[in-house]
Amino acid sequence: MIVTIDGVAASGKSSVASGVARALGVPFVSSGLLYRAATLLALEAGLSLEGAPALLAHLEANPLRLEPLAGGNRVWLGGRDLTDDLHSSRVDAGVSAVARLPPVREWVNAQLRLLPDPFVAEGRDMGTNVFPHADAKFYLTASPRVRAERRARERLEDVPAIEAALVERDRRDAGQSAPAPDARIIDTSALSLEGVIGAVLAGLPA
Ligand code: ADP
Ligand code: CDP
Repeated sequence: MIVTIDGVAASGKSSVASGVARALGVPFVSSGLLYRAATLLALEAGLSLEGAPALLAHLEANPLRLEPLAGGNRVWLGGRDLTDDLHSSRVDAGVSAVARLPPVREWVNAQLRLLPDPFVAEGRDMGTNVFPHADAKFYLTASPRVRAERRARERLEDVPAIEAALVERDRRDAGQSAPAPDARIIDTSALSLEGVIGAVLAGLPA
């Protein structure tokens, strides 16, 4: 079984996917971490975030591995665990440009399609491009202010700055994050995390 959970930035995708996966006893897959890791490698190497050929050659020479652990995904570059460096403002600001490059998307998607099911996959285009035949699809939204307030609890930045960055990233990601026509849309603004997880579990096929 494959369940997809897509949605806008900081809408709760990874927390919800983790809770749903735990309830089902299956792994979850956080696709955004691969786009973030590709961005981190490009920034560290001083590469242009718009230059697909050089970026792809760098990714092929420095293979990344996504480890879909039940408690939280990790990304490895050989023996180096990149995970804790992937949620900086610098990576946030660059990731949409990298994710827009078709060869980078193909590179991410090829890795995701190799994963054995069952799993819960979260990102932007899990239910549209990557797993169009998923057994159940969900799309999470929440108001920009609510999302910024949630992120502010994780980072030392003020809510208006986080909100502006989220809205800008939503705008840049719009081309790759439309809901699948058969996705169930959940506005999480007024729901607790447990409430969203419960709504997803209640929406799964018997
Ligand atoms: P995404 O994967 O979409 O970026 P996260 O799962 O990282 O989102 O969630 C962002 C933050 O919001 C986390 O701190 C998470 O615990 C919190 N959160 C997610 N969903 C809810 C919710 N429905 N109610 C309250 N907090 C939430
Ligand atoms: O958690 P948050 O919503 O902040 O971001 P993420 O899921 O880690 O994704 C980071 C970025 O990767 C997004 O802003 C998109 O640019 C890109 N992404 C994508 O294009 N397609 C996906 N399936 C997942 C992420």
